[in-house]
Amino acid sequence: MFTFYLRTYGCQMNERDSEALSCLLSAHGHQEVEEESAADLLLFNTCSVREQPELKVLGKIGLLKRAKRGRPELKIGLIGCMGQRLGAELFALLPHLDFVVGSDQLREIPGILERIAAGERHIAVTALGGDDFMRLSEHKGADLCSYISIIQGCNQFCSYCIVPHTRGRERSRDMADIVREVKQQVERGSREILLLGQNITAYGIAEAKRAGHYDPEASYLAELLARLEEIEGLWRIRFTSPHVRYMNDKFIQAICGLSKVCKAFHIPVQSGSNRILKAMNRGYTLEEYVHRVRQIKSLASEAQFSTDIIVGFPGETVAEFEQTLELMREIKYDMAYIFRYSTRSGTKAAENMRDDVSEEEKKRRNQVLLEELNQTVEKRNQAYIGQSLEVLVEGQSKRNEERWTGRSQLNKVVNFPWVESLNIGELRQVKILRSSANSLYGEIVE
Ligand code: 5AD
Ligand code: SF4
Repeated sequence: MFTFYLRTYGCQMNERDSEALSCLLSAHGHQEVEEESAADLLLFNTCSVREQPELKVLGKIGLLKRAKRGRPELKIGLIGCMGQRLGAELFALLPHLDFVVGSDQLREIPGILERIAAGERHIAVTALGGDDFMRLSEHKGADLCSYISIIQGCNQFCSYCIVPHTRGRERSRDMADIVREVKQQVERGSREILLLGQNITAYGIAEAKRAGHYDPEASYLAELLARLEEIEGLWRIRFTSPHVRYMNDKFIQAICGLSKVCKAFHIPVQSGSNRILKAMNRGYTLEEYVHRVRQIKSLASEAQFSTDIIVGFPGETVAEFEQTLELMREIKYDMAYIFRYSTRSGTKAAENMRDDVSEEEKKRRNQVLLEELNQTVEKRNQAYIGQSLEVLVEGQSKRNEERWTGRSQLNKVVNFPWVESLNIGELRQVKILRSSANSLYGEIVE
């Protein structure tokens, strides 16, 4: 049996996979530890979306060569998207690595560990198309917010993106299974769920097509949300990430009309230029994107938006970049992940386009967007002063023990003075008294 340390890089899907894996390994008698130095098995759940985080992992595992020389019993496994992408190639780069497993085959790990314990080395398991995310539905406990994977993979093939290559084609879980898992988590004490999928708006589509009853006017995600809305004791439902091309009116009506669905929507745009959107193979125009945002605003005026943006996509001119800046000024995002384009081999953009925007210029564009974002967010936070918000109490503030911390429905961090008669998981009205760049501060109103 191993004592294992599991480190996760990348997105929330990876965090969820790690949680499920950790439950699986515990069920097989292995023991998780929080300290790397206390473990005899180190697991790295990795991300391939950009080059920089990949290099970080390679560097980190590279450094372990020395540690392993001193402790030959130490075993190292690389799992997740990098494992999928690079497979056994990784043993040439990192000869001291013991095994590699892709995201779709995590349930093989207990068996691999038996073989490793028996002396085998350099095992690589990277077949695509598994259904681990459906089968591994255990949770560590009852986090206030439970992550629930509902669809895996992506069929869109945006020209810059490695995800369709590492996570495979779209496949969705059965609605009844998801409802069961959410109920179980709510019974254990969860009050919020975050539904996960690389393209969550494609939920159920591949299955409906295969069964011959696909209806483009329907939204299977909307149906799922409506069923989750019924669950007593569940207060908040979030989901990530939707894709504009897969949105229809049914979906928009559901997310605006269901009271438990939080009205803070993460809708990746990637670029504000139609030429770039086309080169990215996003499958929508800027006008279609803005139309959906306006439609949401017209049905739920309080709605706030966040997004993903890539700057310095091959061939992006200054004028095209400025269209993205224009879009940010128009939508007034509450939050945005801004990425500098990174070439991923195997993608269409890597094959057909030259990464011709300099790193320096990418950094500049990134900085310009960040400044625009920070200004908007600061102004928006100030506008909250005097308002009363419903806050889900999350616990003691890590920065200041004399404060509680929680989040509003629109995902704003709200801090307020400690009172004894309060429990994690309660909903309270908090009147906002001041704001900072990142948080709001207030007091409970009775
Ligand atoms: N370069 C930069 N950013 C990327 N993303 C995906 N692929 C790349 C890439 N090659 C970003 C997109 C996506 C987010 C998860 O990562 O913005 O929405
Ligand atoms: Fe990647 Fe595009 Fe699929 Fe998102 S929709 S995972 S960016 S290919």
